[in-house]
Amino acid sequence: VVDKKVRLGIIGCGVIGKQHMKAAMEADWIELAGVADVNPEAAQLAAEQFGAQQVYPNADLLLEDSSIEAVVLAVPTNIRTAIALKALANGKHVLLEKPVALHEKEVRQLIEAQGELTVAVCSSRFRFLEHADAARRWIEEGNLGEVRILRCRVNEPAGKRPAAPPPAWRLHTAINGGGIVANWGIYDFDYLLGLTGWTLQPKWVLSHLWQLPEPIADYFPPNSDSETYGSAFIQCENGTVITFERGEFMAAPLERSWQIIGSKGSLTLHMTWPSEKTILCTTLDAESGAQTRTLWEGTEDSSWVDKGPVIDFTRSILDGSKPATGLQEALVLQQILDAVYQSARSGAPVQISSDRGTEPS
Ligand SMILES: NC(=O)c1ccc[n+]([C@@H]2O[C@H](COP(=O)([O-])OP(=O)(O)OC[C@H]3O[C@@H](n4cnc5c(N)ncnc54)[C@H](O)[C@@H]3O)[C@@H](O)[C@H]2O)c1
Repeated sequence: VVDKKVRLGIIGCGVIGKQHMKAAMEADWIELAGVADVNPEAAQLAAEQFGAQQVYPNADLLLEDSSIEAVVLAVPTNIRTAIALKALANGKHVLLEKPVALHEKEVRQLIEAQGELTVAVCSSRFRFLEHADAARRWIEEGNLGEVRILRCRVNEPAGKRPAAPPPAWRLHTAINGGGIVANWGIYDFDYLLGLTGWTLQPKWVLSHLWQLPEPIADYFPPNSDSETYGSAFIQCENGTVITFERGEFMAAPLERSWQIIGSKGSLTLHMTWPSEKTILCTTLDAESGAQTRTLWEGTEDSSWVDKGPVIDFTRSILDGSKPATGLQEALVLQQILDAVYQSARSGAPVQISSDRGTEPS
């Protein structure tokens, strides 16, 4: 029996907004108090499908409803911060979709406006999977020793010509803050930095980005400026290195690999699909050398990727705990993204200063 419920509003009734509504409907401590969308049909259909108590034609009217105490912002990145600031000014807890923001300045504005309210970010998604919990516990036991390298290498090969171009937010950095790096790299960085307990502060970033390769350049409309392939070398303050590569529409075979390598041990991980997976841990000792065994094996309940953020967010509101990714963590993620884009533009390394933000070298 749940004695306290969170009255939740969801702004944005598109693909991901509806996933949040499904999660809200299934959690008995959440009341879906209202949904809003500038597309009235989308709002009405979603409200009917998920049993929302009220439908609003825009974000402002939902934010003026004083009975709603928390909101999910499932709208594109370029309009999200302004809505979040308004929500915070109206005393509402906020769950932000990813990417966090367009740039670091927006995250700092949110931190300034937060006060005692809970703000969480959905880049945490893949850390709600069961294997991630086993990995986090293994790391907390001190099995890594000194963390040396966090590695992400994901290449998704191009499929056959798509019937329609991707949605606008995926095509324009002015809407999304970037292409594949903002879109999926933010999950990779949240996963690797979150599993290692948010102890790393990135300092130097050198990156390169590429757009759709020539043979399939017309998969996106000609005005798209989103990168589809990104690579970065990131050095943290304590010397830990993050090597990052993420590509979609690639002229390369499928590869998905994440690894955390320490001085005493390492983890060979798998953040995404397939949900049937094996997570390996390796430990080192002077007699037998490196020994690798299975840390976790099974078929994960992948619905946690969609429902995890809203469950974690509302529980944080109810019990006062910290969400999986809050604004301080989001600031580090945004600093990485900003530095990746800045370095790719300048062709030079970019220094991240923990208090002043990114600066050209
Ligand atoms: N599609 C996915 O699988 C997915 C997964 C995770 C995160 N996200 C993130 O969620 C965000 C939205 O993605 P999506 O796929 O749901 O997009 P979408 O286009 O399907 O939905 C966005 C919705 O927001 C509405 N909207 C736009 N401006 C608005 C405003 N000012 N006020 C109220 N509603 C407004 C649109 O009408 C639309 O219904 C993106 O930032 C994306 O990165 C998407």
